[in-house]
Amino acid sequence: MKALILVGGFGTRLRPLTLSVPKPLVDFANKPMILHQIEALKATGVTEVVLAINYQPEVMLNFLKDFEAKLGITISCSQETEPLGTAGPLALARDKLIDDSGEPFFVLNSDVISDYPLKEMIEFHKSHGGEASIMVTKVDEPSKYGVVVMEETTGQVEKFVEKPKLFVGNKINAGIYLLNPSVLDRIELRPTSIEKEIFPKIAAEKKLYAMVLPGFWMDIGQPRDYITGLRLYLDSLRKKSSSKLAGGSNIVGNVIVDETAKIGEGCLIGPDVAIGPGCIVESGVRLSRCTVMRGVRIKKHACISSSIIGWHSTVGQWARVENMTILGEDVHVCDEIYSNGGVVLPHKEIKTNILKPEIVM
Ligand code: GDD
Ligand code: MG
Repeated sequence: MKALILVGGFGTRLRPLTLSVPKPLVDFANKPMILHQIEALKATGVTEVVLAINYQPEVMLNFLKDFEAKLGITISCSQETEPLGTAGPLALARDKLIDDSGEPFFVLNSDVISDYPLKEMIEFHKSHGGEASIMVTKVDEPSKYGVVVMEETTGQVEKFVEKPKLFVGNKINAGIYLLNPSVLDRIELRPTSIEKEIFPKIAAEKKLYAMVLPGFWMDIGQPRDYITGLRLYLDSLRKKSSSKLAGGSNIVGNVIVDETAKIGEGCLIGPDVAIGPGCIVESGVRLSRCTVMRGVRIKKHACISSSIIGWHSTVGQWARVENMTILGEDVHVCDEIYSNGGVVLPHKEIKTNILKPEIVM
């Protein structure tokens, strides 16, 4: 089977992290976002993944070369010369997606995290005989997503409305699709939105079906959702394979710590924390609801909550970092500094307190 991952877009909502790497390579739970997806696709029997990309393909391909061999999966790029939206890239990659088998293929948005119940999706797709299947999930704030109105028992989609202004329902498009090759005949090679132009038409012909996604789901393309997504991911990991979570008297709730990270005496860590490879957490540090990426050093008695600490940054002793503070790569927060929601660009040194949420350039 084949799959296409939509990797375009500049990931502006996840700056400053996306100033260092393309959004799909930003670490989530100690692993680039896109690897979570590629591993799930591989486990479902996908042998070829096409990345639909519109900038920096070399960076992605260089990074993924190692994983191609490790995972035994073929990864290639389909590069746009202008952004083609969420459907145009499928037309561009047509030759890579179609083969003699006539099998359906997966399409994934690159910023969604879940348990990826792809095997269940294949079964669902076979059972309804329509042209396309999409996964849906319930959310409290449907207006920032694509909303799906469906017939409950069969899953047949009656209506697909992208980012509705008025309430139409609370089941939304989860950004995970399984499409028959015939869907490609509906897409022209030009900037096209699959959500606005293609799905509504397939739905009108009653050939679009939706399956309610079992388990958790989150679009982690913005800091607040990223932090919520980590909580949901770790909850799910607790249920599936709790041995991957850290244990001990200094751990509260769900925490993952890379085996190469070092944690000092008297720390209190958790809940909902990810500590990446090579990190050094000195004694007496308090961490909760945060991600600490590869190579970070957190000095004695620092306290970090609801924040993301980018690669190779340092947080000084007795510093307090909280309320959606996002440190880009290689940021240095001096001793005893307070950051309340600072969004700090890469390679900066923070010598004065950040008292209210603001961007520090
Ligand atoms: N190759 C390519 N080219 N990819 C693109 C382009 C483009 O021009 N534009 C967007 N993408 C990719 C993004 O990188 C992302 O993986 C995916 O398409 C969706 O774009 P987002 O910008 O993240 O859209 P969204 O989050 O506002 O809405 C989408 O996702 C929601 C679920 O998270 C829609 O699919 C909604 O219907 C859906 O509910
Ligand atoms: Mg998104």
